Amino acid sequence: MIYSEKVMEHFQNPRNVGVLKNADGVGQVGNPVCGDMMTFYIKVEDNRIADVRFQTFGCGAAIAVSSMVSEMALGKTLEEAMEISNKSVAEELGGLPKNKLHCSNLGADALHKAIENYKKRQKATKKDQPAKSADKAKCYCPYCEGSLEGMEGFCKECQIELEECGECGMPKRKGAKECPHCGKTKVIV
Ligand code: FES
Repeated sequence: MIYSEKVMEHFQNPRNVGVLKNADGVGQVGNPVCGDMMTFYIKVEDNRIADVRFQTFGCGAAIAVSSMVSEMALGKTLEEAMEISNKSVAEELGGLPKNKLHCSNLGADALHKAIENYKKRQKATKKDQPAKSADKAKCYCPYCEGSLEGMEGFCKECQIELEECGECGMPKRKGAKECPHCGKTKVIV
């Protein structure tokens, strides 16, 4: 089996091997043909791949493929990195022997999965944001809208005692039957 010089060079000196602690995205794929595995870790800054690492349990070709994918991905925008394909990796490596082409399937797929995983995590973080703004809203009296900074349990403008609504978590008059925010009445005791 004849490997190109580039494949041999990446196999012998693979770049970006290892694990990224606190990675923003992780992607793992297995090769159904041989059962080998590849995991990619990425750090994303300003929509670009700021750092990348991989772990590959596979053949020499798979290690060369991972190394090449990591080099191609570094510094690219997420959109550009999604364009990296198994074919373009094999081409960058100066080709792979026919019976080793399946090894190149792992590289771009694992990278794409890491990017998808990053995007999923971003979406999940965005979902948390309304909760944070609700927290901020808790600092205002729902009756006069005066600030409750440092005195969540009492509004000095209306001179009323407040408590947290058990339904929506917003402040309401202590003992009030109806919450001004959600209209419900459950009270935390
Ligand atoms: Fe399994 Fe190459 S033989 S990845």
